[in-house]
Amino acid sequence: MGIAERLIESKYVPDFVIRIVFRIVLYFTRQNPSPVQIAKQKLEFIKSLKAKKIAVDTNEANAPYDFPTQFYQNFLGPNLKYSANYFEQNSSLEESEVRMMEIYCKNSGLKDGMHVLDIGCGWGSLVFYIAKNYPNCKITALTHSNSQIAFIRSKAVNLGCDITVISADISTFEAENKFDMIFAVEVLEYMQNYELLFEKLSGWMKPNGYLYTHIFCHKDTPVELIAPDQDSWMFKFFCRGGTLPSEDLFLWFQKDLVVESRYTFPGTHYSKTANTWIENMDKNKESILEIFHQVYKDEAFVWFKRWRFFAMMVAEIFGSNGGNDWLIVHYLFKNRK
Ligand SMILES: C[S@@+](CC[C@H](N)C(=O)[O-])C[C@H]1O[C@@H](n2cnc3c(N)ncnc32)[C@H](O)[C@@H]1O
Repeated sequence: MGIAERLIESKYVPDFVIRIVFRIVLYFTRQNPSPVQIAKQKLEFIKSLKAKKIAVDTNEANAPYDFPTQFYQNFLGPNLKYSANYFEQNSSLEESEVRMMEIYCKNSGLKDGMHVLDIGCGWGSLVFYIAKNYPNCKITALTHSNSQIAFIRSKAVNLGCDITVISADISTFEAENKFDMIFAVEVLEYMQNYELLFEKLSGWMKPNGYLYTHIFCHKDTPVELIAPDQDSWMFKFFCRGGTLPSEDLFLWFQKDLVVESRYTFPGTHYSKTANTWIENMDKNKESILEIFHQVYKDEAFVWFKRWRFFAMMVAEIFGSNGGNDWLIVHYLFKNRK
């Protein structure tokens, strides 16, 4: 185990030390490439994405999601939205979850009665929000996590919502139905070849149907999410293959879908979201440790530290440079067909 790993998992290193180390590392690794360098690297990167499969390592990527839902109930907000929320001044976590979902529905032009698909739906935050506020929509949720599917099905029965749940890997699934609106919230980061993906999604959309995406991204430099060292802490425990897009990346993938609008939000919204998740972890430490004991046995405490560290890393990265380096971006695409 490396020194960094020991520090992360140690009982004795206080948060403020970890946060200071993060800020120093982020400050000194902040690069300022010239516009010419950025453009050159980006074109190479886009070319390389177009030569890849839609997604890799999808089973490994699913591992953190096929995990007891009780943990996420102690970690996330009441809607179990596992993505960046929108914080107004003094918003609670719940208000920030709802505000971001209002933004998705308003910016996408969602109308009551539409046929809606949410891909990578998590624990159904958005589909339950739509079921409540757009009661005539016909709603389908898709995820490849069995525990998420079980949770959504039972919540839908309890609330009396008519939600179809599909268990599938987006990269290999073929939809039979066509949708007016597809939502994709923090799931496209698991994908690589956006040309093939958008071609596939275009086939799932009605003529002139829409895709509304929410991604986290870097302001100008896209990165492949496959560590050169597959044993690194982050890749071992939290991430597998995918892409960290740049803010403009999807502008380069408009063969089948055309961009109608793009909305950019500062990373500070993610920083605040992750800090509230840490507060939840601390408040619910005993319950979380009990759940972790069932899954990880003697490693329960180490895993508590790992999750806390992971959330702290998100908070620091997205909060760095006033939230101007790492961003949240929404795209509204229209089907060209
Ligand atoms: C970060 S979570 C976001 C969940 C949800 N959209 C939200 O905002 O709460 C990513 C979601 O994408 C799903 N996912 C990741 N890769 C997938 C794939 N290849 N096929 C289907 N679902 C996938 C995960 O199971 C999880 O539900």
